[in-house]
Amino acid sequence: MPLILAIESSCDETAAAVSSDNIILSNVIYSQQIHAQYGGVVPELASRAHLQAIVPVVDAALMQAGKEINDIDAFAFTQSPGLIGALMVGAGFAKSLALALDKPLIAVQHLHAHVLANMIRKDDRPVPTFPFLCLTVSGGHTQIIQCNSPLDLKLLGQTLDDAAGEAYDKAAKIMGLPYPGGPLIDKYAKDGDPGAFVFPEPKIPGLDFSFSGLKTAFLYFIRDGKLKDEQFVENNLSNICASIQHRINTILLNKLQVAALQTGINTVCIAGGVSANSGLRHSLKMVGEGLGWNTFIPPFEYCTDNAAMIAITGYYKYLEKDFSPLSVSVSARSHFS
Ligand code: KG4
Ligand code: ZN
Repeated sequence: MPLILAIESSCDETAAAVSSDNIILSNVIYSQQIHAQYGGVVPELASRAHLQAIVPVVDAALMQAGKEINDIDAFAFTQSPGLIGALMVGAGFAKSLALALDKPLIAVQHLHAHVLANMIRKDDRPVPTFPFLCLTVSGGHTQIIQCNSPLDLKLLGQTLDDAAGEAYDKAAKIMGLPYPGGPLIDKYAKDGDPGAFVFPEPKIPGLDFSFSGLKTAFLYFIRDGKLKDEQFVENNLSNICASIQHRINTILLNKLQVAALQTGINTVCIAGGVSANSGLRHSLKMVGEGLGWNTFIPPFEYCTDNAAMIAITGYYKYLEKDFSPLSVSVSARSHFS
C-alpha cells in the first residue's frame, strides 16, 4: 500500500493530495484569486502564487491525511502540460522532497490524470472497467481518449482550436461576466430555456472538435441583440446561457456518440473542469441511458484541477515502477504516445 504525496501546479490551482493505495486520504486545493481582476490567468503571477502557497498546501494535505512527510513512499507531480513557470514550482518541490528523503519521483501528465480521476473510489462509488472512453473537457483541452488500461491511453480526437472550457469562458466574457465564466453560465442556465436561441453546430470531420466558429457566431448574436435592446443580455441572461450551454454540450456529446459507435466501447466517462457542468452531467446520463452506456462522472471535487487525480495516476505508475530521474524536466505541451 504505497503512500503517495501528489502535487498539482499546472495552472492557477495549487493543490496537494495524499493517497494510500487507490484511496484518497486528503485533497487540498488553493484556487488563486489574483487572476480574476485580469480576466484570465497571468502566468508570472501564477508562478509567484504557487511559491507562496505550496508549503501550507502540502502541510495541510499531510495533516488532513494524518501522515508525516517521512511516511510517504513516493512523490508525484504534474510534469506537463501547463504554464512552464507554474509547473516548475511543483516539480522543484517534489524533486526536493524525493531527493531529501531518498524516495521515488513520479512524473504525471495532467490530461492522463484527468482521465484517471474516474478511477478514484469514494463512498462506494463504482469505477469504470477497461477499456473505456473518456471525454476530457477543460480550460485548455478537449479530447476523446480511449483508455485501455491505467497506463495505455490513445487519443481519438481533439479540438482544432479553442477548448470547450474556453468556449464557455469566452461566451461569458462576451456577455460581460467575470472569469472564469463557465460556472456562471452553468448557474444562470438552470433557469433558462435551452431552445430559446439556436447556435450553429460546426461540421468537423471525424472525432475532432472546433469551437472558434461558435464563438464568432455568439459574438455577432450578442452584438445584434444589443443593437435592438441595450439590455439584451440582462433581459435574456438565463435563456442565452441555457442555449449556449446546450450547443456546446451537444457538440461534445454528438462526437462522443460517434466515438462509441466506431470503437464499440460503451463504458463512457467524462473528466476535466467542464465535466463539473450540471447540464453536461445530466445530458451524459440521459444520452447514456438511451444508448445503453455505462456512464461515469468523477465526484465534483475531482473534475476541476486537483492533486487527487495526480495521486491516483502516481499510484498506477508506482505499481509499474514507472519512476522518473531527478533530471526530468517540465514541459508546456505534451501528447499521448
Ligand atoms: O480542468 P480545469 O479546472 O483546468 C484546466 O486544466 O484547464 O478546467 C477549467 C475550465 C474553465 O474553462 C472553467 O470555466 C470550466 O472548466 N468550468 C466549467 C464549469 N466549472 C468549470 N464550465 C462549465 N460549467 C461549469 N460548471
Ligand atoms: Zn485540468
